[in-house]
Amino acid sequence: MSGTACQCQEIECAEVEIDYTLLDKIIRDDYGGNREAMIMMMQAIQRVYRFLPEAAVKYLSQVIEVPLTKIYEVATFYASFSLEPKGKYILSVCTGTACHLRGSGGMVEHISKRMGIAPGKTTADMKLTLETVNCVGACAVAPVVVVDEKYYPKADIATLNDFMDRLDAE
Ligand code: FES
Repeated sequence: MSGTACQCQEIECAEVEIDYTLLDKIIRDDYGGNREAMIMMMQAIQRVYRFLPEAAVKYLSQVIEVPLTKIYEVATFYASFSLEPKGKYILSVCTGTACHLRGSGGMVEHISKRMGIAPGKTTADMKLTLETVNCVGACAVAPVVVVDEKYYPKADIATLNDFMDRLDAE
């Protein structure tokens, strides 16, 4: 069974096909439908879609019989959950103290200006989400930028331009 997740009217909100067979595997097979494992189920769903689609959250709520409001409460409490679709790449600039002192604020501004998005937002073509994070534990090589799982130590404007040039060429 499959369906369309997104009911919203926002232009940047791409529709997502929900794979209910996969959701069943996560919810029922992997976690036995046990509501105690709700956060782990949410994490697993987010790993699949890179955010928590509305239809998937509703389905989770029905299957484990936890009110939708409770799931959204958890989703909004933990910064690691996203209710908005993310871009193909997630570029996170560390704005912790060490990175801030070495110019990460200017890097955020540079990306925002070039890509036309504020921190926390995604480009209209869904290629890039810009995020700021608070210390990724690599202060010795600050400033640090992380693209998905890959760390770029001692990053600078040239590092960012290289990345964005590659993005433009895709
Ligand atoms: S402040 Fe950026 S890695 Fe620690």
